[in-house]
Amino acid sequence: MTDPSTSPEPQAVADSPGVAAYFIVLDIAPGAPAEEAVRAFLGNAAGLRRSVGKRLVGRELSLVVGIGSSAWDRLFGAPRPAALHPFKALSGDKHHAPSTPGDLLLHIRARTEDMCFELATQIMQALGAAVQPVDEVHGFRYFDARSMVGFVDGTENPEGAEAHDATVIGGEDPGFEGGSYVIVQKYLHNMQAWNKLSTEEQERVIGRTKADDIELADDVKPTNSHVALNVVEDEDGNELAILRSNMAFAAPSRGEFGTYFIAYANNPSVTELMLTNMFIGRPPGNYDRLLDFSTAVTGTLFFVPSQALLEALADGNPLKAEAEAELGAAPGASSASDASPDDMAGTSNGGTLSIGSLRGQPQLDSLLAPQKGS
Ligand code: HEM
Repeated sequence: MTDPSTSPEPQAVADSPGVAAYFIVLDIAPGAPAEEAVRAFLGNAAGLRRSVGKRLVGRELSLVVGIGSSAWDRLFGAPRPAALHPFKALSGDKHHAPSTPGDLLLHIRARTEDMCFELATQIMQALGAAVQPVDEVHGFRYFDARSMVGFVDGTENPEGAEAHDATVIGGEDPGFEGGSYVIVQKYLHNMQAWNKLSTEEQERVIGRTKADDIELADDVKPTNSHVALNVVEDEDGNELAILRSNMAFAAPSRGEFGTYFIAYANNPSVTELMLTNMFIGRPPGNYDRLLDFSTAVTGTLFFVPSQALLEALADGNPLKAEAEAELGAAPGASSASDASPDDMAGTSNGGTLSIGSLRGQPQLDSLLAPQKGS
């Protein structure tokens, strides 16, 4: 648990999903000048948001910047956030969650799209040739915050102190307090097949009523409904939460209808467990029925530094000197800088929440498909 009054201020992870959102994934171009330009941008990102955000009051412009696992190694080396690793692809009997590239994530939210556009444009000008686009999605609020499949999305998100606890890294990872992890996935829906279902059948897929967004009673809600499979607990029976900021997106003339899934957590293993339940099933084989109408086409994991760390990263890894000083003080002592990224991944020993401690769940690692290119 983190104390908001003493922990470093997080980036705007807990902001509301907004009415418009841009989700931009970038790769860093080869070469040292590109790395230098990206570090400089990280130091100036909050300033750019302020410059654009101040121009119109009440538009609630917010920016979150995430850094991918290999990008962290390339730009900053050790020490690294304990649970940072590439997104792990998942293959169930029927459905696949791919792992796709991405060095940087820009999550831009506002009440109007012009603000998202302006900030994205200013950021791309600042980054110039230092980055290459991987993916860009423009999401919109669909009526009363409905997902593309017509059900209200985000209802059971934690709020206030609970949202802070669910998303913000505390003392379990010294140096990275105030940070977060974010997983993004772009889903495309087969709306023709979905719309052939009756409303009652759709409600059994989601686990809530469509019009008024009430959770179905336990004896009515199928075990393969989306809601049933996404309620997960630790070994003491405490429910584990993530903070979602999904948005609908579409290009109707191309028949493209999607949901951009984006979830913040203080340890990615919680989101990974939900994904395992969805794609592999709980128990295995009992996968999320929503996937029969939704295909994941991307999947990427990023670390989100606290505000202060993001700014400090402009000058390189501020924790390096500290780690070296510690090493000097205790000769022969092993430090974070000796550990390999794999040793430090959240699913092995990295965060407070090791996956083995989750009650009644299949061991995640044995179920995860091998990482692309590894
Ligand atoms: C196809 C993409 C997705 C769509 C359209 C979708 C839609 C929804 C909807 C309509 C709800 C019910 C309202 C709510 O509480 O928000 C919901 C709940 C939820 N979803 Fe998703 N979702 C998607 C993907 C995911 C993924 C990939 C995860 C996790 C890895 C996830 C985790 C959750 C959680 C934790 C809940 C709340 C469960 C509860 O406590 O009742 N969703 N989603």
